[in-house]
Amino acid sequence: MALLIRKVFLFGAILTAALQVTSITLPNLNRRQAATSVVTSSASDSFASADVPSVGATPAQSWNHPGQFHLSKNFTITATPNTRYYDWTISQKTIAPDGLERPMLLVNGMFPGPLIEANTGDRIVVKVTNSLVNGTAIHWHGMFQNGTNWMDGSGGVTQCPIPPGQSFTYNFTVPQQWGTYWWHAHAASQYVDGIVGPFVIHSPDEAHLKQYDEDVIVMLSDYYHTPSPTLVSWYLSPASDGSEPVPDNGLINGRNFFNCTLDPVSLFPTHAPCHSNAPRSVFDFQPGLRYRIRIINAGSFADFQFSMDNHTLSVIEADGVDMQPVEVNRIPIHVGQRYSAIVKANQKVDNYWIRAQMNLNCFNEENPALDASVKALVHYAGAPASQSASSTDWADEAWPGRCLDLEARMLKPFIARDAPTADVQVILDMSFQKITKKRVSLGYVNETSWVPLKKAATLFQANKGKIKFAASQFVITLNQTQTVELVVNNYDEGSHPFHLHGHQVYVVGEGKGRYIPGESPLNTFNPLRRDTVTLQTFGYTVLRFVNDNPGMWPFHCHINPHLDAGLMVQFLSLPSAVKAFKIPAELKKMCAA
Ligand code: C2O
Repeated sequence: MALLIRKVFLFGAILTAALQVTSITLPNLNRRQAATSVVTSSASDSFASADVPSVGATPAQSWNHPGQFHLSKNFTITATPNTRYYDWTISQKTIAPDGLERPMLLVNGMFPGPLIEANTGDRIVVKVTNSLVNGTAIHWHGMFQNGTNWMDGSGGVTQCPIPPGQSFTYNFTVPQQWGTYWWHAHAASQYVDGIVGPFVIHSPDEAHLKQYDEDVIVMLSDYYHTPSPTLVSWYLSPASDGSEPVPDNGLINGRNFFNCTLDPVSLFPTHAPCHSNAPRSVFDFQPGLRYRIRIINAGSFADFQFSMDNHTLSVIEADGVDMQPVEVNRIPIHVGQRYSAIVKANQKVDNYWIRAQMNLNCFNEENPALDASVKALVHYAGAPASQSASSTDWADEAWPGRCLDLEARMLKPFIARDAPTADVQVILDMSFQKITKKRVSLGYVNETSWVPLKKAATLFQANKGKIKFAASQFVITLNQTQTVELVVNNYDEGSHPFHLHGHQVYVVGEGKGRYIPGESPLNTFNPLRRDTVTLQTFGYTVLRFVNDNPGMWPFHCHINPHLDAGLMVQFLSLPSAVKAFKIPAELKKMCAA
């Protein structure tokens, strides 16, 4: 009973927050009505009411810089550390990635945002100036931040958002890691509206460095024509009945085609100016060369199956961990995950489709405006330039009924490490619970549905020596350096890509149903290591990590609406070291703003 009262209270807090977001009342609206109201209501979180004028004709795509996705040969891969400086301004702009105009939140006017490219051990210095109407924070997904937890960029956890009009300079090093990462806003749902970009770290020690000639980034994302605050308000209202908003489209390196006549049948029609001839991304291949393709799912909801017609994919990396090569035709990739694959340009000179197929089995609803087969093109030098190809999809593989990662046993880390024996076990139950009266589903980890703190960060509280946190914060304190076994039971019908900040985890077990100690099989022999793991529908996952990185580390579902619904827990690692952190005063000052 006490629990129920607390949940009702919590729900009240969230609904209040949601209503502040859009200033429209939702309870009895269906989604079409909600969306229509929003077209006329420009007041929303993260979005200024007076937007800049439209950028004009679509084909110019001035915000999109395809060149940055083909890594330059001029970059020197070395073990000698360098400092790399970036100067970013985040602001709102109306652009049309797929031809339909909408306001977005951009870094230096770019979508996707600027590439960070570095060598292992480098120092990364990014001055972020916030020209939005709301606070923001930038997270460097997959960086260990060992000794600099306060540079992790998690709003309400490791910092308070950078206030509008102010700047903050992130400054950290990236030793002992390399591979494919990304960065994104970690405040409210801002990254869904455009604040994302690729982050690549090289190393002369990379396992497969000699196996490819060219290095290419392929950022996938689902994409909505409606700004995220509206989607989140709807999701956290009874109107959604717990169904996540279904995307209108998907993008590859920020581009795709959209048939403008479908906007009116979208779940959230916009009636915005739209140009139907928006270009898809084209990847140029030189016959005979070998390409490393770095696939990043920088979306917010959809799980994709990535493939290239006629070209097999030799997977060599998962989330910054080198793998023993394994040949596949398709790679399933969930939100937050990355893979590298080597592709040989060994087919006849022609154009071929690149496909990122959204797994519709993961959606509760249909969006009639959505073409779930998101496409780009491979263009061989010598073939005619084209926005289309006559190639056909792989025929052989059955579509998986559920949203699952590549089987963990297929992926064997190149540098073999057995999972250390667990010293301590933590059992986490993930669920969605509906508050009966209000009919809104919230995400729970054990008994807690997370709500970000306002004007406070759990790290700063821990730094002051606090060991008890607000009821909305589920903080698990790990006092010593030891191996933690995380048993995660997913009591939800959905799959959840969970990301642990600051660590790579060993994936030692997964299966259907609940984890049964002593019965559920575990593999500790060189298991897959990565930083984002999909918890399967009504299944269990057993992870291990070494608790050697002091700080406050979120472990959360990377599906944005689920994070907004509270699906997050935090690990306070080595609290006495955290107490000794010298956190820059300017960072703490942002909580007072
Ligand atoms: Cu991609 Cu909490 O992060």
